[in-house]
Amino acid sequence: MIRRRFRARVVNGLGAMVVLILAAVVPWALVRGGDAPRPSPNPAVPSPSTSRDEPHRSPIALALSADGTRLLTANQTAGSVSLVDPKAGRVLHELLTGEKPAGVALSRDGRRGVVTHWYGYDLGVLELKDDRLSLAGRIEVGPEPRGVALTADGATAFVAVGASNEVVRVDVNARKVTGRLAAGREPRGLALAPDGSRLLVGNARSQTVTVIDARAWRVERTIPIDGDNLRQVAIAPDGKTGYVANMKNRGFPTTRNNIDLGWVLGQRLTRVDLGGGSPSFATLSLDVRGKAAADAHGVAVSPDQKLLAVSCGGTHEVMIFRADRQRLPWRAESSRDLISPELLNDDHRFRRVLLGGRPTELALAADGKTLYVANYLADAIQVVDADSARLVRTIPLGGPRTLSLARRGEVLFHDAARSFNQWYSCHTCHSDGHTNGLDFDTLNDGRQDLSTFHQRSRKKVPTLRRVTRTGPWTWHGWQTSLEDAMVESFTKSMQGPKPAAEDVKALVAYLATLDYPKNPFRQPDGGLSPSAQRGRDLFRSAKTACNTCHRGPELTDGKIHIVGLEEPDDAYRGYNPPSLRGVYDKDPYLHDGRSRTLRDALKGPHSPESVTGLGEELTDSELEDLIAYLRSL
Ligand code: HEC
Ligand code: HEC
Repeated sequence: MIRRRFRARVVNGLGAMVVLILAAVVPWALVRGGDAPRPSPNPAVPSPSTSRDEPHRSPIALALSADGTRLLTANQTAGSVSLVDPKAGRVLHELLTGEKPAGVALSRDGRRGVVTHWYGYDLGVLELKDDRLSLAGRIEVGPEPRGVALTADGATAFVAVGASNEVVRVDVNARKVTGRLAAGREPRGLALAPDGSRLLVGNARSQTVTVIDARAWRVERTIPIDGDNLRQVAIAPDGKTGYVANMKNRGFPTTRNNIDLGWVLGQRLTRVDLGGGSPSFATLSLDVRGKAAADAHGVAVSPDQKLLAVSCGGTHEVMIFRADRQRLPWRAESSRDLISPELLNDDHRFRRVLLGGRPTELALAADGKTLYVANYLADAIQVVDADSARLVRTIPLGGPRTLSLARRGEVLFHDAARSFNQWYSCHTCHSDGHTNGLDFDTLNDGRQDLSTFHQRSRKKVPTLRRVTRTGPWTWHGWQTSLEDAMVESFTKSMQGPKPAAEDVKALVAYLATLDYPKNPFRQPDGGLSPSAQRGRDLFRSAKTACNTCHRGPELTDGKIHIVGLEEPDDAYRGYNPPSLRGVYDKDPYLHDGRSRTLRDALKGPHSPESVTGLGEELTDSELEDLIAYLRSL
């Protein structure tokens, strides 16, 4: 019924559709001019409520016009885009655009913008006129789009689509997708060379970057780098050199000693030779012993490449590197444990600017020194003068005056100050509340084998989406209290101080807000494909017995089972079936990530025969069906 009515209204045009969607998903609405909320010009949008109900804006990305007079922000938790006059330091207009904006880009003349919607699976086309934004169209691009770039003329957009591992090309005028290229796992950051020749894409979960010939529309090369959690990428104007802010998993257990040596994980700025030259990449390690960097996210480079800036969300700062007097100590094709000693006391080449909040994407103005920082937790754009390494202005985007319990939890979740010597935050491993797909030994499985590099006691980072509903916790399922699990996370995974009871409450309140994006493998009407239907029957049949353990609303029975993956020296016997919701995006699979794909798991270590000893071997087509069903969960 509701669906029918909805469709009928859509015929009235895109504007109506947008308004309907937004009115449905966002409990507030606003059209801002300056600081004072204006009445909504569209009667379908409820009028702005009191400032107490204002949402956090949480800017995760930004785009600066070529002349430096306009700036757009992607406001992740507000579902909006703000148009900012960066010189006057004020918001000109704000528009609701869709579900979880994640990336923005602007045409050279500053008249057209685009915004990706991470949970909305579309690209919004924005028109900028008379200091106002309007939504001119919306193009479906695929699941979990984030990074986006626009050609100078605004005619073509390129989008990194995270859950389908693709880069998508969009004809913005025709409002349609005109090409798809396979990238690595979870492409996220994306940048277009200023001359429009090349695209650089950072694959967050496959230790690679993809270089695309944007005109010929083909993958030029895939370059392996020594890094994980790839975030923003940048291309120098020469079109030959790329930069990416990333983390590096070093694999050692989370003892204080390992953390301090940089052997658990560390932050890096990686430089890539896009033309296939040698060395293919080089790194700068960012961590200072005793006062590390955490969650490298944004990167910006000056036209002459003499100035480089990296934001670190977990340590609330921007790092500025200068190579105008002396070269930077790049290390080819490997990295140091810690920052190069020669930078440590060089106040010219290396500066740290504390900004508070969670600095995310960066944009450098054409003057090569005015640096704009999207600060997610500060609900603001910050302006840093790179020459003096000082914060010169904060432009508030708006937000509630007081922090809710869940927002306080979100702050804690992203705060590396809660770990030993500020090396990392919860978000480093549980990226955006999900998983970065890596494994770590967080001393949570009861093994006491701390001295050596012990592959077997490493565990894959579980997603935290709906985690409040899927106890008991940890892979072994020995942890029956989520509150106690939080204490362990702070004191063992992070080796930080014991959290106050209030902190634990706040963190759990934040975890309760984490949910899955909509399933991209469902039919348009939300139903299952014929193959997935057959898979569902199989899942519930005696032949597989999958649903004896994976059952109920979260597809886990909350019990412990022996499934043939146990080790003789396990401290806890058996494992807790993980929820299978969103399992298409939880790779690699099983507690140590030993299976790269669902097929690998179900053909090998988690086949029906090996799990219970009762199940039967599946035929190829049965396996296909079962996987189709699993993907639809
Ligand atoms: C160094 C990486 C890392 C960091 C940092 C980290 N975790 Fe984890 N987390 C893991 C791993 C690995 C596991 C699985 C441990 C196991 O099962 O033995 C896990 C398990 C969990 C679980 C249980 C999930 C489930 O479904 O059973 C929760 C909840 C959790 N972490 C929350 C947090 C919070 C909150 C923080 C910050 C205070 C945090 N983690 C910091 C890696 C990390
Ligand atoms: C006896 C209980 C049991 C049965 C039956 C069972 N599972 Fe599991 N399943 C588990 C447990 C326990 C784990 C975690 C094991 C580990 O990682 O060590 C798991 C893990 C998985 C995973 C990996 C999830 C992830 O996030 O890594 C998938 C996928 C899965 N099961 C699917 C199935 C399917 C499909 C079937 C039927 C063919 C099935 N399971 C049958 C208990 C069971």
